[in-house]
Amino acid sequence: MDLKNRTVIVTGASSGIGEAIARRCAAAGAGVLVNSATSVDAGERVAASLPDAIYVRGDISEPTTGEHLVAAALERWGRLDGLVNNAGRTCEVPLDKFESLTPEHWRRIFETNVYGTFFVTLAALDALRASDDAWIVNITSIAGIRQTGSSLPYAVSKAALDHLTAHLAKQVAGVRINAVAPGLVATPWTESWDQLKAGVSAVTPLHRVATPDDVADACEAMITNRYVTGQTLVVDGGLGLVL
Ligand SMILES: NC(=O)c1ccc[n+]([C@@H]2O[C@H](COP(=O)([O-])OP(=O)(O)OC[C@H]3O[C@@H](n4cnc5c(N)ncnc54)[C@H](OP(=O)(O)O)[C@@H]3O)[C@@H](O)[C@H]2O)c1
Repeated sequence: MDLKNRTVIVTGASSGIGEAIARRCAAAGAGVLVNSATSVDAGERVAASLPDAIYVRGDISEPTTGEHLVAAALERWGRLDGLVNNAGRTCEVPLDKFESLTPEHWRRIFETNVYGTFFVTLAALDALRASDDAWIVNITSIAGIRQTGSSLPYAVSKAALDHLTAHLAKQVAGVRINAVAPGLVATPWTESWDQLKAGVSAVTPLHRVATPDDVADACEAMITNRYVTGQTLVVDGGLGLVL
């Protein structure tokens, strides 16, 4: 992947999947804006370890954060070529306990995963349209495709993002907009889920959970392929085949 003289924003890049993607883009030569909501030290450490990066704090569930991120990228590099909408949240409510869900569960997850992703995207569109090779990758989940996941609002929010991906790809000419839907990935998010990871490794055809780099590989495929748009690439080791 060659991203020399290109600029990329990665939301939620202070750890896990976002960090791996930020590192991948930086290794390909891009200027990278590293974002997170609360983990400022970790985000600043990631940015400082990359050749050409800045850290910008911002909670994507706040409607003006996208404008703030894009303005910071344009101020530093004068252009924007790629956006990775990776930041997301969940709540842990077992799927069969859906009757205990409150409006607050739904609101908090949708404000970040769906509205937040949409408004960051909206803020980036003008700058992306000015690029000769612009792209967006949304990080969704196998939970948006199969009846699995840490909670129903999370699963439904990720399904909404896959659909948003296809809709925007149709509407926004010239910007390639795709999604990457991971299965279970070993990140800080899943740090305490040892039992689940063992179970997934046992039943998944590829017999392991994903690494953040597996997801970065899929993201790279979406960034480099010039003729794919509106698609969701599932990166789950075959987990979805056995659910
Ligand atoms: N791990 C998995 O098994 C898995 C599977 C499928 C999909 N995913 C998706 O992959 C993405 C990254 O997850 P991960 O596993 O890499 O988790 P992670 O290591 O916990 O990273 C999450 C990142 O998102 C940031 N973030 C969360 N809410 C934010 C907000 N409102 N505004 C800005 N940044 C925010 C976090 O920063 P702060 O801590 O500062 O908020 C952190 O940088 C998520 O969208 C998740 O749904 C993960």
